[in-house]
Amino acid sequence: MFRLFYILPFVVCVYEILSLIFPLRAPVWLKGVFSLVLLAGLLKNMLYQRTPSGFDVMELPYPVILAISAVFNFIILALFMTLAKDFLWLLWKIVIRSRFPSGYASGLVLIVGTLSTVYGTYQGLRVPDVHAHEVVIPGLGREFDGLRVAMMVDIHADSLSPRSFVKAITDKVNSLNPDVVLLPGDFVDGQVDSRRGDVEPLKNLRAKFGVFGSTGNHEYYFDFDGWMRELKGLGIRFLENEHVVITSGDSQLVIAGLPDPTGGRMGLTAPDIDAALRDSPENVPVILMDHQPGEARRNAEHGVALQVSGHTHGGQIPGVYTLVQRANGGFVRGWYEVGNMRLYVSPGTSQWNGFAMRLFDPSEITLFVLKCE
Ligand SMILES: [Fe+2]
Repeated sequence: MFRLFYILPFVVCVYEILSLIFPLRAPVWLKGVFSLVLLAGLLKNMLYQRTPSGFDVMELPYPVILAISAVFNFIILALFMTLAKDFLWLLWKIVIRSRFPSGYASGLVLIVGTLSTVYGTYQGLRVPDVHAHEVVIPGLGREFDGLRVAMMVDIHADSLSPRSFVKAITDKVNSLNPDVVLLPGDFVDGQVDSRRGDVEPLKNLRAKFGVFGSTGNHEYYFDFDGWMRELKGLGIRFLENEHVVITSGDSQLVIAGLPDPTGGRMGLTAPDIDAALRDSPENVPVILMDHQPGEARRNAEHGVALQVSGHTHGGQIPGVYTLVQRANGGFVRGWYEVGNMRLYVSPGTSQWNGFAMRLFDPSEITLFVLKCE
């Protein structure tokens, strides 16, 4: 399976060199340079190494990793465009029966692909905007009317989302004056010794009732115990099949969290919604963090009022919505009504450096303003 991770991009790269670069109306030496640049993009896959405990990421300077990532992004984007061009070539041969202008078509794909890559790569790197939503929570106590709940998910701190990025999003969340901060998973990619400094700004998050987290699948890929110690040390209260009750005057609100199912598959704690809500006060609304949205229907049956999730990254690029939908129980981004529960799937606050771009699918910091009925 992991070999496919190397082989498929290589096959795609060779296809693009033959179909996109060779027909260009350009000098041979320039075609050679373009081909070498494309092949250099394949180094991206070498950055991820399999280890007995999961994965490791090779640490390289920011400009190097950015350049390799951008070329890799082009390889992926240009695949769809090159396939479309070759489909057109086939139609041209069958219907029009004349010479297809391959050189111009390849040039057009190269230009559109490059512009899309530059724009999408920039969108992936930028500090996200705040998306604010008023949410009516049935049974919410009067003292919590207007409660400000900020959420960041899929931060994926790494060499492309380094300390400066994490500091910027932390400052932005603090500027919202949140009462609660929720961080439902995928904090970091990399080993503790390499990336500890990148997540450190999260210790500056400030919220009246606390900063709460739950695990995402990526927490299990790199020294789970080490990262849990590190993240808890930053003041994040992890809710692993647990809940807390926050109180203001006579009003109460339950905040619960589930671990990502990856934990269960690796012999660690599996999600258990019964355990998470055991002994929670009756008739008090529940806000649940569950990194992946796929089990929302199960959670809705347990009386959760609002589930917040991430994981899908909203698809990241056009054309993969249906694939992501199928892999996540039908949920990709935005609001869903699931029984009596409301589900919000964030497109994520950053990006994943395995495919570091966002095209027409911007990241966000989410702010929920809770309202009484
Ligand atoms: Fe995830």
